[in-house]
Amino acid sequence: MADISKLTLRQARTRHMQLQRDIAQHDVAYYQNDAPTISDADYDALRQEYVALEARFPQLKTGMSLSEKVGAAPSPKFAKVRHAVPMLSLGNVFSDEEVFDFVARVRRFLGLGAEAPLAFTAEPKIDGLSCSLRYERGALVQAATRGDGFEGEDVTANVRTIAGVPHMLRGAVSDVIEVRGEVYMSHADFAALNARQAETGRTLYANPRNAAAGSLRQLDATITAGRGLKFFAYAWGEIAGASPASTQHGMLDFFRHAGMPTNPLVKLCASAQEMLAHYRFIEEKRAALGYDIDGVVYKVDDLALQARLGFVSRAPRWAVAHKFAAERATTVLRGIDIQVGRTGALTPVARLDPVTVGGVVVQNATLHNEDEIRRKDIRIGDTVVVQRAGDVIPQVVEVVVGRRPHGAKEYVFPDHCPVCGSAAVRETDESGATDVVRRCTGGLVCGAQAVERLKHFASRNAMDIEGLGDRQIELFHKEGLIKTPADIFTLAARNAAGEFDLEKWEGFGETSVRNLFAAIEAARRPPLNRFIYALGARRVGETNARRLARHFGTFEALRAVASRAVAESEERATINAIDGVGDVVAEAIADFFLEEHNERALDALLAQVSPQPMEAVASNSPVAGKTVVFTGSLERLTRDEAKAQADRFGAKVAGSVSKKTDLVVAGPGAGSKLAKAQELGIEVISEDEWFARTGQK
Ligand code: IVH
Repeated sequence: MADISKLTLRQARTRHMQLQRDIAQHDVAYYQNDAPTISDADYDALRQEYVALEARFPQLKTGMSLSEKVGAAPSPKFAKVRHAVPMLSLGNVFSDEEVFDFVARVRRFLGLGAEAPLAFTAEPKIDGLSCSLRYERGALVQAATRGDGFEGEDVTANVRTIAGVPHMLRGAVSDVIEVRGEVYMSHADFAALNARQAETGRTLYANPRNAAAGSLRQLDATITAGRGLKFFAYAWGEIAGASPASTQHGMLDFFRHAGMPTNPLVKLCASAQEMLAHYRFIEEKRAALGYDIDGVVYKVDDLALQARLGFVSRAPRWAVAHKFAAERATTVLRGIDIQVGRTGALTPVARLDPVTVGGVVVQNATLHNEDEIRRKDIRIGDTVVVQRAGDVIPQVVEVVVGRRPHGAKEYVFPDHCPVCGSAAVRETDESGATDVVRRCTGGLVCGAQAVERLKHFASRNAMDIEGLGDRQIELFHKEGLIKTPADIFTLAARNAAGEFDLEKWEGFGETSVRNLFAAIEAARRPPLNRFIYALGARRVGETNARRLARHFGTFEALRAVASRAVAESEERATINAIDGVGDVVAEAIADFFLEEHNERALDALLAQVSPQPMEAVASNSPVAGKTVVFTGSLERLTRDEAKAQADRFGAKVAGSVSKKTDLVVAGPGAGSKLAKAQELGIEVISEDEWFARTGQK
């Protein structure tokens, strides 16, 4: 190794680039071809020199630096797989009381009295990553990660290497069956893997879940094979033909008989008390299990009841995760940074002395907002309690006041944006309530907001442009290459015209530029819901974006209405009437589309991309798009359930009958609403007819 202290910056840069190329090649040889061309010791020496160069010349450390990457393997690109049945997530509860509430909610929804029997399964919540395994005529044909729930990555070759996963199901099974469950890594395999990583000078995995994810998403399945991954089946997606069982526990028995690994700690419970007892039992066993779990999942056992309960947004009504208490540790708060988000929100972030909380090193934690800092009286220099629960961002819970250093001063929250210097204010709503969030008023002049909007636009659940991550966006924005989303789509043309020659930029190179431009090209026809979400309007998250997409079908239709949706207009009312969209959201949508600058940015963007019309979820159902009123006493459905069903079939439920009503479902004892419907000549059907019409039994 040359004497780094004697190198000029120029010499260092040349050597750094050379090392970067060499190391990347060795990584491919090792990870993808399983055929290293140098010894581990020589490889380590290259990495050490690389790191030493960056330590001496920090300017060499760009977004593409190998030392910044987690894990040495290049991110492999997998084919996308659309899930036939979406893979949803679970709602969380943290206390006994919430478990009682959950059971009561289920009973209420189903219209069951307190005494009617209602069984639940209780089983460990495995801390790994979920996967959907598709078997056709008994043979494993495809495996996909969860991804965003609708679309995952094809990891078939990798899953085939998992020891417990059968390539052929045993016994008589349906033509198509998608088995879903968790891929995880045991504590023993995790420790062994990290020991190997350390020996070869590679980055260590933070926890078994990350290790499992990293191991599954290897381009070369032989690497996955050596990682000792395991699988537990606990759910299913598409099943052709008759269901193999009528209960949750019956399905697990079926999986087991078919040769699928299932968790042994599943228990059938008849009450909230029994569920909680099993929770305690599992909690006691937790440390000795040999793999990570982060809670207990309760599910309504009867599948017919599960079907009646259905889903709200992205989680089932019939299941919930009861999480274990968060893990905590104490450390010292060294500073408070203020981050500026996409909507201008100023978020305080605690900079901490590194501390291990539940097996993960924590250095940053959220302080939520100004009021929280004041309420907890958090001061720089304080010893603080940090907590981390599952996936959530670590948080500062409280101060250990007894250990406060002498002279520590109360923290003063800035009233100006640390990035653009504009005033930062807390809005007051009509009722006089002050927003907890302080926002930068700089809007379009604020660089931080612009960058965050661009990051959001390109992110995975939005436009999903691979290779255009946070670091690249920061760089391109800083260098003036992209200011608005439309600029992303002209990058390739401008580069070809010689405007900047991206291939020559440090850390880029021909292949990565080619891949980036290909990913941008591929993003020109985004699904409508993702496109709407990508725009980043306030209060339009994934769920609302999906609602808007489903309601309007095309972007033109949405824009035509939203760009005229001033307060009290017909258009505003139209948006407001979309199920799940309230006043506040409707106002935010209108604000976004009415903003002149956004209009211009949208025009420019739509010249580049064509959002694809949304397939309405149940556009083929005869009640899709209709406004329905339920009245009288219903016998097979509770009101909540009726509303949920209408939702599922694409219909909208109204509370009263008007000219806009398309259909009235009347049960015995219906009165004035029925009369009004008859008077207006609106179609009236019985509850049974509703079932028939929506194709239910
Ligand atoms: S049931 C429709 N059961 O937890 C609900 N999920 O937080 C299907 N998970 O995405 C999920 N153990 O990855 C279920 N025994 C279990 C589970 C489990 C772990 C994961 C799963 C899911 C996430 C939701």
